[in-house]
Amino acid sequence: MPGLRFTLNGAAVTAGDAPPTTTLLDWLRARGLSGTKEGCAEGDCGACTVVLEDGDSRRPINACLCVLGQLHGRAVRTVEGLGRAHPVVQAMAQGGATQCGFCTPGIVMAAWAWTREGGDPHAALAGNLCRCTGYRPILDALATMADDGAAAPAAVPDSARFGGFHLPATLKEALALRAQHPQAMLLMGGTDLGLRFSEHRERPDTVICLLNVAEMQGVAATRDGQRIGAAAPYAEWLAACRADARFAALVPYLERLGSRQIRALGTVAGNLGTASPIGDALPVLLALDAEVETSARRLPVAAFLTGYRRNALTPGELIVAIHLPAPPAGALLAAEKLSRRHDQDISAVSLAACVEFMGGVVSRARLAFGGMAATALRAPEAEAALLGRALDDAAAQAAGAALRFTPMDDHRASAAYRLEAARGLLRRLALRHTHPELPAEVHA
Ligand SMILES: Cc1cc2nc3c(=O)[nH]c(=O)nc-3n(C[C@H](O)[C@H](O)[C@H](O)COP(=O)(O)OP(=O)(O)OC[C@H]3O[C@@H](n4cnc5c(N)ncnc54)[C@H](O)[C@@H]3O)c2cc1C
Ligand code: FES
Ligand code: FES
Repeated sequence: MPGLRFTLNGAAVTAGDAPPTTTLLDWLRARGLSGTKEGCAEGDCGACTVVLEDGDSRRPINACLCVLGQLHGRAVRTVEGLGRAHPVVQAMAQGGATQCGFCTPGIVMAAWAWTREGGDPHAALAGNLCRCTGYRPILDALATMADDGAAAPAAVPDSARFGGFHLPATLKEALALRAQHPQAMLLMGGTDLGLRFSEHRERPDTVICLLNVAEMQGVAATRDGQRIGAAAPYAEWLAACRADARFAALVPYLERLGSRQIRALGTVAGNLGTASPIGDALPVLLALDAEVETSARRLPVAAFLTGYRRNALTPGELIVAIHLPAPPAGALLAAEKLSRRHDQDISAVSLAACVEFMGGVVSRARLAFGGMAATALRAPEAEAALLGRALDDAAAQAAGAALRFTPMDDHRASAAYRLEAARGLLRRLALRHTHPELPAEVHA
């Protein structure tokens, strides 16, 4: 595919004959760049981690979920692009942080991104599995690493077409393509759809990739809250919440959405598009009465989610942005996620809450759960049970008793467990309010 080009390890490359729906992982390995490993091919193990570079920014991504078409005009670095002498590689070797070595290239790339991005080193490795070394020496090695200061060219995402793979750069272009190809796959970060390329080996004839659409870019702080562009990855939303005290309560929750690799590409719009009952963004959007801006209208998230993996999008309609109001001053905003593992796991149950007070008692409560029904949804009976009461353990228990859900019963959790867990999350909410000094979660 002559026109499809990106920067790989600092040098311009073209995709050659490879279809644009080839995963980056397959393409790299076919070119002999076999440092990037395949463990799971579904975004879970991190063995395929490479880094998306954009000027000063470095974001680790899963090469197994990402396809070549998404990379046009961007820059990627693989472990070969660091080389044996690189201080991050040396730190791993000298720290005894590698045994069989299968996970090591992925860990090296996640670590290299972390030396620039910073933050909790444990969290930086949440998307990387190591089965033989144990994480202690790996974390010790990370502690000796420093940013090498290298910068990459800035991304030049423009409008392009490679056979049936379209990269529109404006909403107008995207809508015209959608009208022309009503059956085309609409691709954003690909952290849901990528499995169809990697695991199911699908090669759809027509793909409209929305990553470059100008109207869908960025997260902007507004007077009322945030405008989250449909193409803005979770990493940008998380950064915006860190920078805005009104949304700071969402930070620990968003840090548990997937891994850094997933958050580098996955989007809120994709969560809405998939409309899974355990989509982690959805309870937050419901608890804050967010609105979805589509190419045709603006509608409340509650009206957008119409059933199990169903939404209100009509043929030809695209999600452009999400408008997320800030909680009113003095309100308690909280989001909780229960999953079998703390990191990189899908929720069994989640709760997002926005509780307002007047004279020390609850004047308005918005409680939205994930994992409790066919779609994420509010719990009006539990909300009513809190009204006029102090938000304490007794009130939380009353709200829990009022829950009217018939939860899902599947391999992740039984219906009985989910109901019990949802009640527990309400008590945790009250605990956060009455005893903000206590840790609401205990870590090993
Ligand atoms: C390892 C792993 C861990 C994960 N962990 C979590 C987790 O902890 N919590 C969680 O909620 N999810 C998780 N996910 C799922 C996934 O990351 C999210 O659902 C994410 O929000 C999908 O966004 P995306 O941009 O990658 O969507 P894509 O895969 O590109 O698309 C998803 C759907 O949305 C549609 N769509 C996307 N953009 C638009 C638009 N602008 N207009 C119309 N339709 C659109 C697509 O057509 C498609 O149907 C995980 C996935 C993996 C692989
Ligand atoms: S191969 Fe496991 S995350 Fe990509
Ligand atoms: S060193 Fe063997 S899996 Fe990590």
